[in-house]
Amino acid sequence: MSITRRELIGGLAAAGAAASLPEFLKGQPAAAQASGQAEPFTFVHLTDMHVTRKRKGDEGYRKCIETVQQLRPKPAFALMGGDLAFDGNYTPKADFEECIRLYKDISDGMGIPYHNCMGNHDALGWSSRRKVPIDDPDIGKKMIMDRLGWEKSYYSFDHDGWHFVVLDSILPIGGKNNPSYEPRIGPEQLEWLAYDLGKAGGRPTVAVTHIAAFCNRGQITGNRDYRAMDGGMVLWDTRELRTVLERHKVKALLQGHSHNIEEMRYHGVWYLTSAAASGAWWAGDWVGSPPGYTVFRCDGDKLTWEHVEFPWTPHLEETDALERKRIAEQEAFRQEQQRLLEKERAGIR
Ligand SMILES: [Fe+2]
Repeated sequence: MSITRRELIGGLAAAGAAASLPEFLKGQPAAAQASGQAEPFTFVHLTDMHVTRKRKGDEGYRKCIETVQQLRPKPAFALMGGDLAFDGNYTPKADFEECIRLYKDISDGMGIPYHNCMGNHDALGWSSRRKVPIDDPDIGKKMIMDRLGWEKSYYSFDHDGWHFVVLDSILPIGGKNNPSYEPRIGPEQLEWLAYDLGKAGGRPTVAVTHIAAFCNRGQITGNRDYRAMDGGMVLWDTRELRTVLERHKVKALLQGHSHNIEEMRYHGVWYLTSAAASGAWWAGDWVGSPPGYTVFRCDGDKLTWEHVEFPWTPHLEETDALERKRIAEQEAFRQEQQRLLEKERAGIR
């Protein structure tokens, strides 16, 4: 269920300003009106855009947003899945400030409302590698929230009979002496979520988190020693979160952080990780996942989606030796897969 890069480019080029979506994503207003239901609408989930001037990431994000602008039907809004600006953890404050400004300027140009979700890279200085003094008044989530006019780090809203919840998976720890975070929703927010969903009264609901509830990287890489929880790739309170989502029959939890597309269904809830808009922090594909995002369609109480790629050629910098190596390895793997495919199809042993 994915639009290939070629199809997307073809759609954009053929339509001039307007991209075409696949049949299933197109609105059917006549049918909807006849049945008395609300009309279908679409929205996009953009995550891990890591906006920065490094590797011309700002140009890449602009390109991404241009393709969102060309989607037809026009999405009602965007859910921004976190790691919005690159980066608050290890870069000087002035650089982070500029990344936030770029994120805001480019996102504002999208022409549709967007709802921000907190990523681990969005907190200023919550890392032992911080480049700001430990007593900086802007440390933590404050800086990006102030600059974006973002009042509460977790919240919910409604749209055309659907309910949307934006969660904050970056739980502060360490106090003033060693501020950092844990990948958790935390009991206070979980209680808020349970009652927020209770208030929503069974409306079809989609929730968003940055750090995923589920990530299969261990299985994907075949690494038996890989432990997603220890590595901070998944929430430490997935069990508590999924229990609430299951109880309230939430349709889907949209996830980010791993930069790999994943889809999993458990006890009636879809756990969907979108590609990172930045791919590998604007250095090409991240282990086979090119830069992209996901387009969702809400029709009645039905949720469907497509993963979309957008064209972007990485601009590596002189110091990007690791990235060059990773790209070369990925290309060698792709070629070997092709060689084996041809050999096996030809029946050559
Ligand atoms: Fe990220």
